[in-house]
Amino acid sequence: MKLLEVKDLTKIFRMGSIFSRTKLVAVDRVNFEIEESEIFTLAGESGSGKTTVSRIILNFLEATSGKIMYRGKDITNIKDREEKMRFMKEVQAIFQNPFETFNPLRKVGNYLYETATNFSVARKDKVEELLKEALDAVGLKLEEVKEKYPSEFSGGQLQRISVARALITKPSLLVADEPVSMVDASLRMSIVNLFKELKEKYKVSVLYITHDLATAYYVSDKIAIMFRGNIVEMGDVEKVLMEPKHPYTMMLKESIPEPDPKKRWKKKVDLKMTEKEEYSMKGCKFAGRCPYVKNICKTTEPPDINLDGRVVKCFLYK
Ligand SMILES: Nc1ncnc2c1ncn2[C@@H]1O[C@H](COP(=O)(O)OP(=O)(O)O)[C@@H](O)[C@H]1O
Ligand SMILES: [Mg+2]
Repeated sequence: MKLLEVKDLTKIFRMGSIFSRTKLVAVDRVNFEIEESEIFTLAGESGSGKTTVSRIILNFLEATSGKIMYRGKDITNIKDREEKMRFMKEVQAIFQNPFETFNPLRKVGNYLYETATNFSVARKDKVEELLKEALDAVGLKLEEVKEKYPSEFSGGQLQRISVARALITKPSLLVADEPVSMVDASLRMSIVNLFKELKEKYKVSVLYITHDLATAYYVSDKIAIMFRGNIVEMGDVEKVLMEPKHPYTMMLKESIPEPDPKKRWKKKVDLKMTEKEEYSMKGCKFAGRCPYVKNICKTTEPPDINLDGRVVKCFLYK
């Protein structure tokens, strides 16, 4: 059984007044699966819909349509509190900014203790042992961190502690949305490496969300490339990043050697469209930027094509 299945997931945001309504299809019929003990990466430029996917998985946001299955069970938009609590134990989030994860006024030790008791993961007299274990998994000692406040740590150290916090409930899946983008460049690899270690040691799966293909290549088993709410290419990371087939993935790969990371994903496309524009837009969303564009691309949505161990949404392979 798959650990997580995302099926035809769609999220439409509606904005504006009744006079100038705009709608934005932030996530457009997205499908992917995560196996046990697997690191699955969602990559794509800013605004492609990655965070929206993760927020729906975490039940922070309702899906417009489609579903999320966890171990074969539909967990889309859970309403029941107890069920939600059970799910939150199994699937834990790691956020971009570790300083927002922790309460700045509380000692880290107290905060971790509270997480453990909130989830009632252990008897009171066993909690300390559990915290030790969680911190040990990320290479830290409880005694070294518990009396300190979040501000006494660097971003990298605190992100390590927030991974430990996530491990307290012994989850099967970590959802990590841009977990290293605010971490000092020299420490990024060590955090990403932690995901690999956790996978190997504890069989934890990770949904790793990033716009950084270098860390994605290093850590992932599988990768899905998103563009404007669609997955345009998905498969084994080696295949997708080393022999990309979708013109967008090819473009991204060429942009890897760019030393200035800010330039890697230069163009921020304007994704907001009026309802009229949205409906009149047929065909491939990448057509406007694609060097291989054909007439059919402008009028018809490309199919998902299975090609050499990956899925590509492109007419080039039809
Ligand atoms: N709550 C919201 N209301 C309206 N639009 C939103 C909301 N959240 C995200 N969006 C829009 O949805 C698109 C996808 O956003 P997001 O999922 O954050 O992308 P990413 O994480 O890949 O940068 C963006 O155009 C963003 O502006
Ligand atoms: Mg995001």
